[in-house]
Amino acid sequence: MSSSTASNTTNGRHLFKEYPTGFPTPGQSTVYDTSASIDLDHVPLNGGVLTKLKVLSIDPYLRELMNPNLGTSPDFVPFALNEPIQGHGIVEVLRSENDKFKSGDFLHADVIPHEEYPLFSKEATETLSIVEKRPELPLSVYVGAARMPGWTAFAGWKEYAKAKTGETVFVSSGAGAVGSIVVQLAKHQGLKVISSAGSEDKVQFLKDLGVDVAFNYKTSDTREVLKKEGPVDIYWDHVGGDTLDAALENMNQYGRIVLCGMITGYNTESGDVPTQKLYTAVWRQLSLHGLLIVPALIEKYQSSFEEEVVAKLADGTFKYREDKRYGLEEASQAMLDVQKGSNVGKCVVVVDGE
Ligand SMILES: NC(=O)c1ccc[n+]([C@@H]2O[C@H](COP(=O)([O-])OP(=O)(O)OC[C@H]3O[C@@H](n4cnc5c(N)ncnc54)[C@H](OP(=O)(O)O)[C@@H]3O)[C@@H](O)[C@H]2O)c1
Repeated sequence: MSSSTASNTTNGRHLFKEYPTGFPTPGQSTVYDTSASIDLDHVPLNGGVLTKLKVLSIDPYLRELMNPNLGTSPDFVPFALNEPIQGHGIVEVLRSENDKFKSGDFLHADVIPHEEYPLFSKEATETLSIVEKRPELPLSVYVGAARMPGWTAFAGWKEYAKAKTGETVFVSSGAGAVGSIVVQLAKHQGLKVISSAGSEDKVQFLKDLGVDVAFNYKTSDTREVLKKEGPVDIYWDHVGGDTLDAALENMNQYGRIVLCGMITGYNTESGDVPTQKLYTAVWRQLSLHGLLIVPALIEKYQSSFEEEVVAKLADGTFKYREDKRYGLEEASQAMLDVQKGSNVGKCVVVVDGE
């Protein structure tokens, strides 16, 4: 929480302190720090924008960026020690020297430092965009179903799933931010949807979304379920490892696999996710697609995303579930909870407001 004197306001920050080798430890791998302050009225902007942090998205990839050996994509670099964690979020403009943005505007950015008063340089303002908020949706949904996780689901589905009515799709981690949109897109298109999650509560949420076969992968055998309910035409992977193997074993001829994430590897030192059954892809002539939500893919599907997802979220056709934490000091624990599955729905940290 911020405190202020006549000209100085505490600028709370969520700092990266050590590279974890397993799960991140709240208050140790990352810490909430109140040693910095900022003069909100006089700090020079030099053509930039001074903002107040509103909402942060707590995404699984934040743990991937805590791996110093990360070398997966030039777009993703590991976090620097003793610097704020950076991630998706929404800020409110306090002062601006950029004509496009005025005080009170809500702005999106993909790379926001986890601090209560982010200052964007003139160059960094290029990465900001105004939130086109529908009144029916809270601001927080604009870091979840209506933004990056929703884009990932929609653009990946359109580009790679090649879904046909009557086919069968399996979505792992289906109750999460991305998965819950994928299962609804699939149901909407008339597919049979099989989906797994890690608790009875999440399984109930999957049923509420209309999933045909919802199961708890901790108490049911994924292979048995897929054997009984498959074969699977499309597997949407969030997990990797043995779950990917179970899907590979139960794929239909010419099936498609969308590799969206592999969370089983994120909290290990190497980040590797061993897979044993890849050879099945040869015999069944499967297509495997790595999905990364990059600007070109967003641009391609942005306008249809507004109509086919955001409008449906706004009118209640599509459902979303959020796990809201309040205050930047909660970000450290929230990051661990997303890795462990203790989050129920899209995990967001509301720093100021709703
Ligand atoms: N490719 C891209 O551009 C892109 C973009 C966004 C997200 N992603 C990836 O998509 C996946 C889902 O992201 P999200 O934001 O929607 O997160 P999320 O599903 O809301 O949260 C992560 C979930 O992963 C599950 N999980 C954790 N450890 C697991 C394990 N060992 N086995 C099975 N499930 C496990 C937990 O759910 P349970 O309780 O059900 O286990 C946890 O709640 C992640 O892998 C993420 O990295 C990729």
